[in-house]
Amino acid sequence: MCGIIGINSSKPVSATIINSLKKLEYRGYDSAGIATLSSGLINEVKSEGRVDNLEKNSSVLNMEGTIGIGHVRWATHGLPNSINAHPHSSQNVSVVHNGIIENSTLLKKFLVGRGHKFKSQTDTEVIVHLITENLKTENIVNSIKKTLKALHGSFALGIIFKDEPDLIVGARRGSPLAVGYGPNENYLGSDSYALKSMTNKITYLNDGEFCVIKKDHIEFFNEDGTKINKKVLELSSEEEKYDKGDYKHFMAKEIEEQPVTLKNGIKEYIDNANNDINIYNIPWEKNEISSITLIGCGTAYHSCLMAKYWFEELTSLDVNVDIASEFRYRKNRFKKDSLYIFVSQSGETADTYAALDLCNKNGMKTCAVVNVIESSIARDSEFVLPIHCGTEIGVASTKAFLGQILILYILALKLGQLRGDLEKKVLSEKIKSLKELPKLVEKTLSIDSKIQNVSTTFNEAKGSMFLGRGFSYPIALEGALKLKELSYVHAEGYPAGEMKHGPLALIEEGMPVVVLAPRDNYYKKTISNMQEVIARGAKVLLITNKSSDEIVSENIWQTIEVESTNQDLLPFLLTIPLQKLAYYSALKKGFDIDKPRNLAKSVTVE
Ligand code: AGP
Repeated sequence: MCGIIGINSSKPVSATIINSLKKLEYRGYDSAGIATLSSGLINEVKSEGRVDNLEKNSSVLNMEGTIGIGHVRWATHGLPNSINAHPHSSQNVSVVHNGIIENSTLLKKFLVGRGHKFKSQTDTEVIVHLITENLKTENIVNSIKKTLKALHGSFALGIIFKDEPDLIVGARRGSPLAVGYGPNENYLGSDSYALKSMTNKITYLNDGEFCVIKKDHIEFFNEDGTKINKKVLELSSEEEKYDKGDYKHFMAKEIEEQPVTLKNGIKEYIDNANNDINIYNIPWEKNEISSITLIGCGTAYHSCLMAKYWFEELTSLDVNVDIASEFRYRKNRFKKDSLYIFVSQSGETADTYAALDLCNKNGMKTCAVVNVIESSIARDSEFVLPIHCGTEIGVASTKAFLGQILILYILALKLGQLRGDLEKKVLSEKIKSLKELPKLVEKTLSIDSKIQNVSTTFNEAKGSMFLGRGFSYPIALEGALKLKELSYVHAEGYPAGEMKHGPLALIEEGMPVVVLAPRDNYYKKTISNMQEVIARGAKVLLITNKSSDEIVSENIWQTIEVESTNQDLLPFLLTIPLQKLAYYSALKKGFDIDKPRNLAKSVTVE
């Protein structure tokens, strides 16, 4: 998941490229680089680490050239250092790449045999030398066509040429790529987010397509080099404030924004006047769907798992969930009455997109629950339910998770209503409770000091467990993931009822264990599981909801009580303390909360 930017202009481009790369750092921040064309030469500057390091490099400050490409890297092949940073250049060609070239070893052998000298450990460098090799006998379009045909794997490319000082080439297969139209200049970018600060006129490339970007026009080609026409989209031009405001981190801001996220979603999908649901134009009749499969990665997968419990509770549908990277290679039995729902904040996750592509190729019904409505997953799904939570910058997903499970819950209510599985009275009750949720989340967000105090224990422990049953189990998984990805400590989410089948052996004196035990149908069973770990020395952080009933148990290390609501909605409230626990643990460790090590916001490689 790297970030690509290219600009073909009538004025110097290096400063604009650097600024655009800063907006792209959420896609990868191991290293960064820029290349421009000036006085007939390719000038390339690269640095390890953040874009700031690149900016401080004196050679960038007075970099000339009105054509340039830039890149922020998340390392797939080769160490995250300046040699492996992009762009990669020969004397005649410079390339930035997002994706993985699966036959790079073979191609490298062939090119070394043709006398090409390699400098880096990356797969990308083979593209540079292959184009250089093909340019010996072909013109630009044919050399690009021939090169792309020889590459196996995925790529989004930006390419400049020493001998073609008026153009940039872009090419896409499996990794997103867009072009933008400006005043006497045009742009190339990994996604609309990279281009939004320069233009709201965007064209997306589809897989197999490539383009030639001049400063006053852009030509598009399909993979056999035939010219094609492409639509120009006008994106909503409201420039959201991307800054952190008074918060120390984007993640802190995004946690606190969750009541607004929920309000936006409820406003969009709940008909307040009629206490009904605003999901119309579902493109299938109710008898065309008998089962649902929900697919996602990471936090989005946890949203899918959460939705499974609600779909089963509120409809008579069969419900499956799958991790996208597993689903895409499984021997799937595709049935025409199955609906496949793809959940993705970015809408660009390679595994989730590949799973969608597989379903499309098999003629399946597809629905996307996404935050970025111009994304590839949204564009290629039959039915799209945006979560409207605004830009999420923190790599650790928070408001997008609540936005996803909100829309999935509302969809479950809608399908239950359409299929006659939900009585009108019950539905109306549930909608009423739902409208109260933002306020309850607001109140739950105020639980802060106790979580700050317990976070040190989780930091100092060798590892921790997060336990839950039923509706709380997906939240236990999500809480563990947050702690792992922010504090870099072992944390495992587990079904509370499963501990006695092995993991109980992990429990030792003083080990922190989060037990999610809201007063729902699973409460008593979960309290017994809690006793089992306390009896073996665990320090239990019990998270439950406020109730007049006493908690019948001793030796609980700490208890946090969230607000009470109907049991369907308790998972929303249980999530809040877990997000804060992970945040404060990482804060105490002084880690980079918005850009945790080894991760990136949009995983656009396998
Ligand atoms: C969540 O905190 C992680 N950053 C990660 O698991 C993320 O949810 C996953 O990569 C899926 O991303 P998506 O929602 O953009 O598809």
